[in-house]
Amino acid sequence: MAQFVINGGKKLKGEIRVSGAKNAALKAFAAALLTKEPVLIKNVPEVEDVSRMAELIKTLGPKVEHIRRGEYRVTADKLNSSEIEPEIGKKLRASIVLTAPILIRTGKVVFPHPGGCVIGERPIDVFIDGFKALGANVSQENGLYNITARKLKGAKIVFHNVSVTGTETMMMSAVTAEGVTTLKNCACEPEIESLAQFLNSCGADIKGAGTHTIIVSGVKSLGGGTYRTIPDRIEAGSFAMLAAASGSNIKVKNCRPDHLDSLLGLFQKMGVKVKVGTDSIEVAAGKKIGAVGVKTREYPGFPTDLQAPLSVLLTQAEGQALVHETIYEGRLSWTEELKRMGANILNLDPHRIEIRGPTELRGREIESPDLRAGMAYVIAALCAKGTSVINNIYQIDRGYEKIEERLKKLGADIRRV
Ligand code: EPU
Repeated sequence: MAQFVINGGKKLKGEIRVSGAKNAALKAFAAALLTKEPVLIKNVPEVEDVSRMAELIKTLGPKVEHIRRGEYRVTADKLNSSEIEPEIGKKLRASIVLTAPILIRTGKVVFPHPGGCVIGERPIDVFIDGFKALGANVSQENGLYNITARKLKGAKIVFHNVSVTGTETMMMSAVTAEGVTTLKNCACEPEIESLAQFLNSCGADIKGAGTHTIIVSGVKSLGGGTYRTIPDRIEAGSFAMLAAASGSNIKVKNCRPDHLDSLLGLFQKMGVKVKVGTDSIEVAAGKKIGAVGVKTREYPGFPTDLQAPLSVLLTQAEGQALVHETIYEGRLSWTEELKRMGANILNLDPHRIEIRGPTELRGREIESPDLRAGMAYVIAALCAKGTSVINNIYQIDRGYEKIEERLKKLGADIRRV
């Protein structure tokens, strides 16, 4: 099993480019199955989750061509299976987004409870309720969900929980449904708005994506098109926090600073020196930074996917701060290892920790439990004195493209072995 060996404590310097957003690209692959015409997907991060998605789509019949680095063509003229391959589906949360095109194209979809990071309960009731509201029949057998519908019908759906993939799946389901669908209490993440813009460019009629109410007027069919993946705001935020935590000068390039307003606001309160450009964030090594607490929230609030890197940054800040993870109840357990690296963290309950800083971190051997915690360990290891070994880096490769090569260019001492 591959691992990262990191010798920490060095100041980093230079520029780092942000990849396309995994959580946007994955949805574009699913959306490509809504049309029989070819869809070109650009600026795709070459990460494990994208490979799994491509693999999964091929099992359904469509063609997925890897044209060049970061560019794929999906042609779904044929879609001859209604079953999401359980072994892959269980590994990938985004697999659930495929339920919409498969149901629309074949009248049926059979799928396992989707997997992904182990970060707490990940129910799918929002999807099940949504499909039912659009007129589908839902049953469960042998641990698999079975949804059928000859033709979906527009409806008003008020999500009882704000869900990113739930919003995306219902938005896609409504695109060719009969009549108008009104979705309320939608998630507002930029990836959703970007998906809607792409669907509209293929002929859909979606209004309001990026707000809490989305109105979809059903159209007969969609054509093909080109999707350019938006920059990964989580990757950009993680690099900016690496710079702040390690006292380094790093320019994060090719990003969308307006997608990171909550983080930039927090940086300002903490005293982190940043220069924001139109598509870059430059963090300059400053003097002391102060601790500021945060509650993770749906967009435009502080993202749960940045909670782990922020917690590492707070171990290097002066003072005491509360981190309140409101989205997932299992997403703070990774901090046990951070404590063993020397962090002063008090676990108050499954949703809240108190961090006191600054503390000196020490290198250790660590197991990466999931994607974002894995990246946080990389940041912690780069800040720590001595050598760290991070195991199970498949989890990091799921969402960060060749991370060690890109960090090496900043002067990091990191090796994949
Ligand atoms: N929820 C329900 N019922 C549902 C669906 C969700 O109660 O049917 C709850 C969840 O338990 C959670 C909250 O709603 O408490 C939010 O979950 P959401 O459905 O929004 O998460 P998701 O769509 O499964 C996406 C990203 C995650 C990211 C979350 C929150 C993808 C593939 N995944 O997940 O990304 O953390 O939104 O922003 O888009 C990651 O990339 O590492 C990652 C975990």
